[in-house]
Amino acid sequence: MPNVNPKATYEPCPPQRVAFIGLGVMGWPMAAHLALAGHDVTVYNRTAAKADALVRALAERGVARVRTAPTPRAAAQGAGFVMACVGNDDDLRSVVLGPDGALAGMAPDAVLVDHTTASAEVARELYAAAQAQGAHFIDAPVSGGQAGAENGMLTVMCGGDEAPFERARPVIAAYARAVTRIGASGAGQLAKMVNQICIAGLVQGLAEAIAFGQRAGLDMKLVLDVIGKGAAQSWQMDNRGKTMVDDRFDFGFAVDWMRKDLALCLQEARRNGARLPVTALVDQFYADVQAMGGGRWDTSSLIRRLR
Ligand SMILES: NC(=O)c1ccc[n+]([C@@H]2O[C@H](COP(=O)([O-])OP(=O)(O)OC[C@H]3O[C@@H](n4cnc5c(N)ncnc54)[C@H](OP(=O)(O)O)[C@@H]3O)[C@@H](O)[C@H]2O)c1
Repeated sequence: MPNVNPKATYEPCPPQRVAFIGLGVMGWPMAAHLALAGHDVTVYNRTAAKADALVRALAERGVARVRTAPTPRAAAQGAGFVMACVGNDDDLRSVVLGPDGALAGMAPDAVLVDHTTASAEVARELYAAAQAQGAHFIDAPVSGGQAGAENGMLTVMCGGDEAPFERARPVIAAYARAVTRIGASGAGQLAKMVNQICIAGLVQGLAEAIAFGQRAGLDMKLVLDVIGKGAAQSWQMDNRGKTMVDDRFDFGFAVDWMRKDLALCLQEARRNGARLPVTALVDQFYADVQAMGGGRWDTSSLIRRLR
């Protein structure tokens, strides 16, 4: 069960009726923060036991404004905002479209905010589907990982129309430290792709550097402390460098998820003509890690290939 660390202060926001669909590693704490911030929350999860467990966990903290619903449609009924955080494009379509999907229950003018890391294409498709019934869709992938979700400190990159974004922003703020509209529908997903392209090459560089230093017989934790105060510093170096030295990967952001994200980047690059040679290579390195049984290891496990 994910931890949830209530924030010292939540941004003031009038209580809203909010639905949350998908209570995984990320969605569970995000939904919990909405309830802790004072919103009236209805949750749906495919595996219903998880939704029941969240309601119980919040009740133990004295938060009673949370209930479960049997379908995404039922969860969305009467909600001003519907949040989703599921796995990939197809998972997202399955909870949003169709007779039991969230859109079928949404009132005109309600806003669907999707935190799944998905394609820009599905974002535009669902934006159009929402618009056709007078509702709104914001693509809003996140960065900050499990710890960011548990601490309510995610960075949220959004695409969609300005007015519904402005309405949703203070609600999203319950689990975020930054919520920014990047542009039109799909722009949030494209920004997340930029984020993942930055990370892929950087983690491979860090892996090569640490493996090189260890072969050279250096005290690599000392080296990381020293160079981490200079131009080589990065979030990955600060947060993953020492666990890479220790060869520990049983936490963090899974290689399977990274491969899904890099596939989205490579697919988008084929469409827009961008060249991603390093990203494509690192994607294949991650395939090697999967073949080593590391699909659930943290992405810093790239160094295992070099040992
Ligand atoms: N974990 C991270 O550090 C991280 C960081 C940034 C972004 N993300 C992105 O956030 C999204 C969720 O990640 P996560 O780590 O929370 O994943 P997760 O723990 O595997 O949870 C996935 C959630 O989606 C639900 N789901 C999946 N397929 C579904 C379907 N077809 N129909 C209905 N529900 C479905 C699952 O329901 P069940 O409980 O029934 O399986 C579960 O609630 C992914 O797109 C991921 O790339 C993750």
